[in-house]
Parts: sequence; structure tokens; C-alpha cells
Amino acid sequence: MPDASPGHDDSWRIEAGRLLFARPWHFVLGTPTLAALPEPSEIEIAFAGRSNVGKSSLINALVGQKALARTSNTPGRTQELNFFAADMGPMIVDMPGYGYARASKKLIRDWTRLIFAFLRGRANLRRVYLLIDARHGIKDNDRKTLDLLDKAAVSYQIVLTKADKLKPPALEDILEEMRRALVKRPAAYPEIVATSAQTGLGIELLRAEIAALANE
Ligand code: GTP
Ligand code: MG
Repeated sequence: MPDASPGHDDSWRIEAGRLLFARPWHFVLGTPTLAALPEPSEIEIAFAGRSNVGKSSLINALVGQKALARTSNTPGRTQELNFFAADMGPMIVDMPGYGYARASKKLIRDWTRLIFAFLRGRANLRRVYLLIDARHGIKDNDRKTLDLLDKAAVSYQIVLTKADKLKPPALEDILEEMRRALVKRPAAYPEIVATSAQTGLGIELLRAEIAALANE
């Protein structure tokens, strides 16, 4: 397995990530429709995935603030596209989750449309982090999202969440399964990041990657 942990040569990238996320981040706007998106002036990094996978928690871990993005034990917490920014650099987009079975059919349809239209059509969207619960792996609705991103040639990377819930051998198994699933996906970044918003696993690395994307 390629070592995903930062080596000595990466220390300047880690530092750039630390600096970007040491800035104060703030909420810019939330919108349930594509009609009210912010002006596409900065690059955007979106966090997508099933309901309750931990999108908002991961954003809070990145920015080091407990409640910048609102989180909840019950699925369906984030109901709009929420944009966050520091005083410079990229925007971070927290998305509603897909696959929330208990929402009304209309709501599911509206959210799915919003998520897919944004992912497919946003010109300044530089990278999508597609979050997968480390315990559950890729589900059908994840596959639909991956298909859409591949088709639209939107660069994405898989992030495993809640890695603290698995023992290291089980985590290694799921990482291997994911790597195999990604081989034939053209828009997928080949490396997968295992994270935990609770222990901080993978957060430093993700910060470094986002800073690198912003500096490209
Ligand atoms: P929606 O907005 O409803 O789509 O959910 P979300 O993907 O934003 O998930 P959210 O961040 O609200 O987290 C859902 C639940 O998972 C909360 O109870 C979090 O505390 C929990 N959670 C998130 N990340 C982690 C993690 O790394 N480890 C553990 N153990 N729990 C986590
Ligand atoms: Mg959320």
C-alpha cells in the first residue's frame, strides 16, 4: 500500500495546509437552489456523500471549529448548499446528503436534483470529496454519483469517514476494496484518504491537499 502518511518531503505541504485552515473561516451563504449561488470567483471544493456520512463534521474538523457547519445524529441535517470561506483561498461547499430514506419523495427528488446539477455544472468546482462511511463501503447511490462525476469529468477523491469505528485490519480491507473499485473510474483520484473527525486521522493530509489545489 502506498504510504498516505506525510513524509519529511511533504512537511511544507502540511504547513501550507495548516496555515490555510488556521485562518478564521466563516459561513458565506446557504441556498436550496442553483439560482442563488455565490459568484464563481474562487475555486470550490465540495463535500458530498450519503446522509449522515459525516460531511459537516469533516468540514468542522478541517477548520478546527466545532459548529461552523451544523451536524446532527439524525440524517438530513444539511438541507442546502452551504458555502464557507476564509479571507482568501478556496470556498468549501457542504452539501445535503443523498439517500435519506425518511425524507419525502419530493424532498429527495429536489435534493438529488440540486446535488447533481451543482456537481455537474459548476465550472469553478475544482475537486469533489466523495465521503464514504468506512463501515459501509460504496452503496448504489454512491455509484450513481461516481458515474455522474466520471461522465462530467469532475475530479473527485474518495474519503473514508468514521475510521475510528474500525480496527486497522478492517480499515485496510475496505481501503483495498475501494482501490479496486476505482481502477476503472477515469475522474477518480487514485489515493483514498481515511479520516476521523473524532480522532483527527487524515485531517492534516486533507488540509494539505486542499491548500495544494488552491495554489495550483
Ligand atoms: P447530513 O447533513 O444529514 O447529510 O449529514 P452529514 O454527512 O453532514 O453528517 P454529520 O457531520 O452531521 O454527522 C452525522 C453523525 O456522524 C453525527 O452524529 C456525527 O457526530 C457522527 N460523525 C461524524 N464524523 C464522525 C467520525 O469521524 N467518527 C465518529 N465516530 N462519528 C462521526
Ligand atoms: Mg451535513
